[in-house]
Amino acid sequence: MFSLNDDRAARGLLGLSFSFHRMASSSSSAPAASYDVPWVEKYRPSKVADIVGNEEAVSRLQVIARDGNMPHLILSGPPGIGKTTSILALAHELLGPNYKEAVLELNASDDRGIDVVRNKIKMFAQMKVTLPLGRHKIVILDEADSMTSGAQQALRRTMEIYSNSTRFALACNTSSKIIEPIQSRCALVRFSRLSDQEILSRLMVVVQAEKVPYVPEGLEAIIFTADGDMRQALNNLQATFSGFRFVNQENVFKVTNAEAHLAY
Ligand SMILES: Nc1ncnc2c1ncn2[C@@H]1O[C@H](COP(=O)(O)OP(=O)(O)OP(=O)(O)O)[C@@H](O)[C@H]1O
Ligand SMILES: [Mg+2]
Repeated sequence: MFSLNDDRAARGLLGLSFSFHRMASSSSSAPAASYDVPWVEKYRPSKVADIVGNEEAVSRLQVIARDGNMPHLILSGPPGIGKTTSILALAHELLGPNYKEAVLELNASDDRGIDVVRNKIKMFAQMKVTLPLGRHKIVILDEADSMTSGAQQALRRTMEIYSNSTRFALACNTSSKIIEPIQSRCALVRFSRLSDQEILSRLMVVVQAEKVPYVPEGLEAIIFTADGDMRQALNNLQATFSGFRFVNQENVFKVTNAEAHLAY
């Protein structure tokens, strides 16, 4: 059971410096909500500069976006904090109109066993694409820590052979699950959990854009249950809004408890 009297809630939320606007609960004039588009997608930042938090990591990526010559990268950190978002935004900024032909995206739902590394990735790396000076083709390997070590060994070789033309960006929760030879060829960019204030700043953007009626305690409950995970915060906000049309503590806990029951 969640309680906002918990230590963490007290520490995290009492220190927040923001002003809530209590929105009129007569929401009849609110536009029809877009239930179909997940807010995590609708509000996914498309530019590196718009990614909230992790300033050091984000500014390193901004330098790469500006100067080009992206090194092989590993972005590591807990779920829902912007790793995939950062890689996609960086690739778009680097490659612009060439994105489609010059980026290969492979995520956990794609097969990324040894054959895929040998065939699909290698074929992409060998393919000739004309790009501006200082730009490279990019292979995005999401959730790379779930790749078998055989596949990683094959990947290591491909990375070496084609690094003139192709750079790799790996996202993972724990970089220690990436084999050492790959780690040593990559720049490691660490992401950590977002602060309550950072989550709040993004929630405010979304509640305003979507005209979500709320009370401050409702957002506090979302922030508390999300525990630094922006994806979870946005999903819980959307679930509460579409279930109850009003974000207060009670409704948030109904939604998050229901999800907890479904998960077990
Ligand atoms: N730092 C952030 N700033 C703004 N929005 C964010 C941030 N992090 C996450 N989000 C939101 O959450 C969604 C999920 O984020 P993302 O896919 O980047 O997480 P991730 O770190 O790759 O997580 P996982 O480890 O589960 O793959 C994004 O589409 C975006 O809407
Ligand atoms: Mg991801």
